[in-house]
Amino acid sequence: MQVTVSEDIACLLRQRVPLIALESSQENHALDLLKRQCKQQGQTLYRWTLTEGLDTVGFGPRLQQKADSEQTPVQALQAIKARNDSGVFVLCDFHCHLEGEPKIVRLLKDIALDFEVLPKRIVFLSHRIELPPELQAFSSRAKLSLPTDDEILNIIRQEAKRYAKQSGQQRIRTDAGALKLLVASLRGMTHQDVTRLAYHAIADDGAISDSDLPEVNSAKFAILNRQGVLSYEYDTESFADVGGLENFKGWLHQRQKAFVGDSGLEPPRGVLLLGVQGGGKSLAAKAVAGLWQLPLLRLDMGSIYNKFIGESEKNLREALQQAELMAPCVLWLDELEKAMAQGGADDGLGRRLLGYFLTWMAERKKPVFLVATSNDIQKLPAELVRKGRFDEIFFVDLPSSDVREVIFAIHLKKRGINPDSFDLNRVAAVAEGFSGAEIEQAVVSALYSLDDEQTLTEDLLIKAIVSTTPLSVVMAEQIEALRHWAEGRAVSA
Ligand SMILES: Nc1ncnc2c1ncn2[C@@H]1O[C@H](COP(=O)(O)OP(=O)(O)OP(=O)(O)O)[C@@H](O)[C@H]1O
Ligand SMILES: [Mg+2]
Repeated sequence: MQVTVSEDIACLLRQRVPLIALESSQENHALDLLKRQCKQQGQTLYRWTLTEGLDTVGFGPRLQQKADSEQTPVQALQAIKARNDSGVFVLCDFHCHLEGEPKIVRLLKDIALDFEVLPKRIVFLSHRIELPPELQAFSSRAKLSLPTDDEILNIIRQEAKRYAKQSGQQRIRTDAGALKLLVASLRGMTHQDVTRLAYHAIADDGAISDSDLPEVNSAKFAILNRQGVLSYEYDTESFADVGGLENFKGWLHQRQKAFVGDSGLEPPRGVLLLGVQGGGKSLAAKAVAGLWQLPLLRLDMGSIYNKFIGESEKNLREALQQAELMAPCVLWLDELEKAMAQGGADDGLGRRLLGYFLTWMAERKKPVFLVATSNDIQKLPAELVRKGRFDEIFFVDLPSSDVREVIFAIHLKKRGINPDSFDLNRVAAVAEGFSGAEIEQAVVSALYSLDDEQTLTEDLLIKAIVSTTPLSVVMAEQIEALRHWAEGRAVSA
């Protein structure tokens, strides 16, 4: 088995640093790494804990059973100091013994000062550790690096083998595409979490398949999410349920490979869907994640603002960082205008947030595909909709007659009604000026109008349609203004 060898640790053990603070809550994993590293470098590794005392780990001669005399921190350090061989001494949970303990601090300093004569390295392995100032000059900090893609793949293979052995299964069915996505989903997590989630994904059905991904992604989100400004959307949609938007669908299809990093092309970064209310923008945003089989994260700008005053920038920063940890993913910013134009009393804050956001959009390295939606261009700052910010701005207009037919069919089918028994051409013609949301509403209210036992007919559906005044009539002017703005600036979705 190949294990993550942290570059940091490997380097530090080669440098002339007597004290190393290694923060990690994965003690076994960290010891494993140190063991391998020491073996490679031909050094003896010792471990001390309050309960077990001091002893060698892995290869190397066992210390004689002197546990009793070496159990206290002071005795352990005295024993280390007295040894006349070099080595790496891991002190587990030593953070509790450093504060207000002059003798301990001095013993550590003695060992550090002796380093040139006899190199003994002390590694403090704790979930969190601060060294006293006297010792800092002799010390360095190390972190366990997170597993790389290759290492994640190795962990998955190893867990697959483990499961196969346990269950007596010959081999684990693996779909190559799903495996690749699984590796991507497990990025950004610790060795321990990767192992746990990989095993779980395999053990639930004895296979690695697309069906594992949503669960892995939501578990990952739960592990990473401490903030609450981002939410994980469980309900992604399928483009099969979105009528029209053919240009947008084609655009996404063309770029799917590039986003997952399979073509040498520049990966797409994000789109703005702009358009009339109820046109299916939010629906389409969810469908992007469904189409690309990626986790969908929703950034609620409202909650960035109203948490604690002064924290807004931090909230936005953390949310975007978190989205990057979840990459590859789709980040959905619904109703962007509410977020960005919401300067309110503190207009400077709105500007600063916008500035931060724009910088992030331009510089982000991780594959986070942004889908922003808006139905009010007036409220969007000009900087945001300038050419080049988004890969494309799509304008979602009211559906044409053909598309209205499709949307009627989708919503009838969703409610268990066979659309073939309707002359949808006629129905769609009556619903001139209706948005997708209004079409759905018409279907719903027609169904409500039915008495028991009655089935929905074309006439009843048309009755529901004509009794509705679509927004396109009420808001004719706004829609016209939106269309006008979109001309030359946006492409038709
Ligand atoms: N093109 C469409 N195809 C199928 N259903 C649609 C379509 N457009 C709208 N709908 C239906 O209307 C509902 C509401 O649409 P949605 O919320 O996506 O519109 P929107 O463009 O985001 O509107 P708003 O600007 O008000 O946020 C959808 O959940 C869906 O059921
Ligand atoms: Mg919406």
